[in-house]
Amino acid sequence: MKQLLHVDVGDYDIEISDNSFDELKLSIDDFTSGRKRLFVISKKVYNLYKKHFNFNKEELLILPDGEKEKNCKNYIKIIKTALNKGLTRHDVMIAFGGGVIGDLTGFAASTYMRGIDYIQIPTTLLSMVDSSVGGKTAIDISEGKNIAGTFYQPKAVFININFLKTLERQQFNSGLGEILKYAFIETSCGYSKPVFFFEFLTLCCEKFFEFDTVTLIRIIDYSLKLKITVVNKDEKENGLRKILNLGHTLAHALETITKYKKFTHGEAVVYGMFLAFNIAFRKGLINYSYYRLSVELMESLGFKNLNLGKVAEPGKIIRYMKRDKKATQEGITFILPCGKKQVKEVKYSEDEILEFLK
Ligand code: GLY
Repeated sequence: MKQLLHVDVGDYDIEISDNSFDELKLSIDDFTSGRKRLFVISKKVYNLYKKHFNFNKEELLILPDGEKEKNCKNYIKIIKTALNKGLTRHDVMIAFGGGVIGDLTGFAASTYMRGIDYIQIPTTLLSMVDSSVGGKTAIDISEGKNIAGTFYQPKAVFININFLKTLERQQFNSGLGEILKYAFIETSCGYSKPVFFFEFLTLCCEKFFEFDTVTLIRIIDYSLKLKITVVNKDEKENGLRKILNLGHTLAHALETITKYKKFTHGEAVVYGMFLAFNIAFRKGLINYSYYRLSVELMESLGFKNLNLGKVAEPGKIIRYMKRDKKATQEGITFILPCGKKQVKEVKYSEDEILEFLK
């Protein structure tokens, strides 16, 4: 089974399939034929899949796993490896792994010799439904996540759901967090026709956990159709694209405070969405029935709200929220539900947020 999508911004295709790994290897070879390549791959993914892909060591850079590896040291390592292997501006980098590898390789590709092509082979659910598409690239510094980064679109994205068979449950759930986000923003995305993603997720969650191929491909397809619609309208996040940050104001603060060790990104996003729904209901932006249905959807997919007080005191959470790229002098920005499957940007002062966090 195969689904093809196109992104106008950057003019590239996304293939979502359950093809064999032999077929995937052929597709990558076809796409990059005649060019030098640098595969940047996570150690875990390399160990799991080296026998399937028979990588040429001359084309390979293996990096350790984990968000803390999305750093300056590994960025320079990619740049130097590309240089040592003689890659020119006409050659190509291949990000083969999860979101960390994708963001890091994309950032290196966007700056290597002022920019060379890269393609994304996402191997986690999170990177399949979010970070491999849309061209956000970045590295983290100790002060915060994604502080140095660029908008730089890949030349192709090959999504193969067979990689998910070896994904740990916690990582699978992380992807689910971002998938839920699309259910809550569908109307605001402005896709040409309704896909009823909220309803679809409500009905199909069992099949999803059973690894049903058709369901998985459809969920990735719907998520990306919504994301692509947004990215095509606002690549550089001047307006509409901010809606993709539902749940992220709190998520980034939680991830940084806990040094990326306690929560996966998707989990942190879900906690951020619980807070967003809570604020929206208290502020009268949504009615009780939609609030309940949304909380129930998150709960039916295995998520529970978090006692924030157990992670950090409110003042500390606010300090970290203020470091977010989206924060301004006037206050901290939240994307909040404001109607069924609709969201909008709202700014709150520190005092107001303190009330919400109590
Ligand atoms: N992950 C949010 C975005 O791509 O804009």
